[in-house]
Order: sequence, then C-alpha cells, then structure tokens
Amino acid sequence: MTTEITVQDLDTQQFIDKQVEEIKSQVGDGQAINALSGGVDSSVVTMIGHRALGDRLRTIFVENGLMREGEPEHVVDLFAGLGVKVELVDARDEFFAALDGITDPEEKREGITQTFYKDVFGRLVRESGARHLLQGTILTDVDETVAGIKRQHNVFEQLGIDPEKAFGYKIIEPLIQLRKDGVRKVGEAVGLPEELFNRIAFPGPALAARVVGAVTRERIDLVRKATTIVERLLKDTNAFQYMAILHEDRVTGMRDGKRDFGLQIEVRCWDSVDARTASPTRLPFDMLEKLAEEIIRGVPGVVSVTYNIATKPPSTIDVV
Ligand code: XMP
Repeated sequence: MTTEITVQDLDTQQFIDKQVEEIKSQVGDGQAINALSGGVDSSVVTMIGHRALGDRLRTIFVENGLMREGEPEHVVDLFAGLGVKVELVDARDEFFAALDGITDPEEKREGITQTFYKDVFGRLVRESGARHLLQGTILTDVDETVAGIKRQHNVFEQLGIDPEKAFGYKIIEPLIQLRKDGVRKVGEAVGLPEELFNRIAFPGPALAARVVGAVTRERIDLVRKATTIVERLLKDTNAFQYMAILHEDRVTGMRDGKRDFGLQIEVRCWDSVDARTASPTRLPFDMLEKLAEEIIRGVPGVVSVTYNIATKPPSTIDVV
C-alpha cells in the first residue's frame, strides 16, 4: 500500500531531498533512462532525476505520433532552456502498427503500454546498459487502475507485474505518493517554469485517449486540429483540463445544400482539484458558439459539436 502525502502535509524541500537520495541509492553509479512526455508529472520527475543523477540520466521523449501539435519540439526547447538535454525518439510507425484494427478502449491502452515499455524503452534500456527507468506515475493513476476503472498506461507493480521480468528494467516512481495538486507544488519548488508546473493535465496515451473507435493517423490528425482550437480558446478559463474528443458515430448534416454524413467533435472542460471527481465548467454560451464555429471551420468533415455536461463520476475525464 502506498501512503498518500496530501498537499496540506507536503513539505516540498524535504520531499525533493528525500526523492533525490532515494534515486541516488537505487541507481548507484549506473545510468538511468527518464521517460518525459511533457506533462506535469514527467516534467517534475525530470527535474528531480537530473538533480539526483546529472549526466547519468538520459531523458527521452518518445514521439509516438499521438502528441499535440508541435509538442515534441516545444518540450525539447523548454527543457533546453532549463539545461536538460532531451533526446527525441521517433516511434510513430510502431505505435500506429500496435493500434491498427483496435477499437476497444482497454485494448488500446494495453497496445500503447506494451509499445512504450516493452518495445521502445525495452530497446533503449538494452542498448544503453541502464537498469532503471524513471517515470511520473501518481497516486490517482494507481487508484483508477486498481479500482478497475481504467488501466493507466504507467501502472505495473500494483497489478502484480514485475517490470524487471516483463521489460528488463526496474521502474522508479518518485511521485507515487502525490496527487496532481501536490505534484504542481513540487514542480514549482524544483524550479520548473509556471508554464510547465501549471500546465493542464494530459494523459500518457495522449490523443489516443480522445478518439472513440479506430486510432489511425488521419483520425489523430483530426482530433489534433480540434485540440489546438480548444486549448487556444479555453486557456484563460483556469479550468483543470479541457479537450476535444472525436466520436466514432457519424451524423447527418448538410454542406453546400447537400447531405453530408459528417463527424462529431465533443468538447469537454473540467473543474477539478485532483482528477478524482470533476464537474463541467459553466462556460458562457458565447464561448460555446465560438468553439463550434472554429471547430467546424478548422476541422474537415465536422458537422456537429457538443459540450459535455455530465460530472465525473459517472463520466471519466478522458473518454478512452
Ligand atoms: P480519467 O479519464 O480516468 O483521468 O478521469 C484522470 C486523469 O488522469 C489522466 N489520465 C492518464 N494519465 N496515464 C496517465 O498518466 C493514463 O493512462 C491516463 N489516463 C487518463 C487524465 O487526463 C486525467 O487528468
């Protein structure tokens, strides 16, 4: 059982020092690999890991083809400014091959997990001689996986999976006792810029968590375009998380006076403290209209835009 450290009980300096010592003692004088996705959690782990290991930590950003517009380059630049070199590994073909023909949400998650941990990181670790992988699993990821709500891509031990046997390396999870609010506080204390520690949450399975049904390059491209619009329009709302979802069902619409059996995009915008429960943000109707107009103009084939008004539970924040 992992003991939770609540944001109220969190002493950030003490927490960082303890995690730095822990990483040093586990890795010894070896090398470790760090999985950076550019999300809040892995960004915080990157800073703590570099404080502990310096050049003995290789930070890798896996370009899985499922990221937001311009994200790989943006993350590399941001960390370069913090003195952290990030290596980009292009694994797009592997991820799309693993997702080919899969529509079930849990099978998608499993495909992504195996590609990440077994194929991509398995290979990188073997080639580098490292024995450890650092990653940003947090307590909410564990809770939802253990409760059987969603198999989060980064949870193993709590499911009885030994990463060393399954993938050939040990996993170190410095943030496992924290929730998102605590992670942000540690991020600020460890020197991340606000753009990173206050970044909206983004799931490990990336845009694949926002496509209902088949995940193809074309469908990811559509949801990516809608995501860019939603993130631009909602960035000043102070909401916990906001996103665009591409649905599988088509609906009848009209274009140029003719029937158009078109695509549906759902917009979600959540108020939440720690992602365990959430409620839809009461966006002004003018904003909803603006979202619809821009999505219909900017995403080819869309004839319907909806706004989610259900709470979590019974919804979850992302749809896959
Ligand atoms: P849900 O959709 O389960 O999400 O309500 C709760 C929070 O977790 C994020 N999320 C993930 N994060 N790996 C992650 O690291 C995952 O597999 C994953 N799935 C969902 C989600 O974006 C939300 O902030």
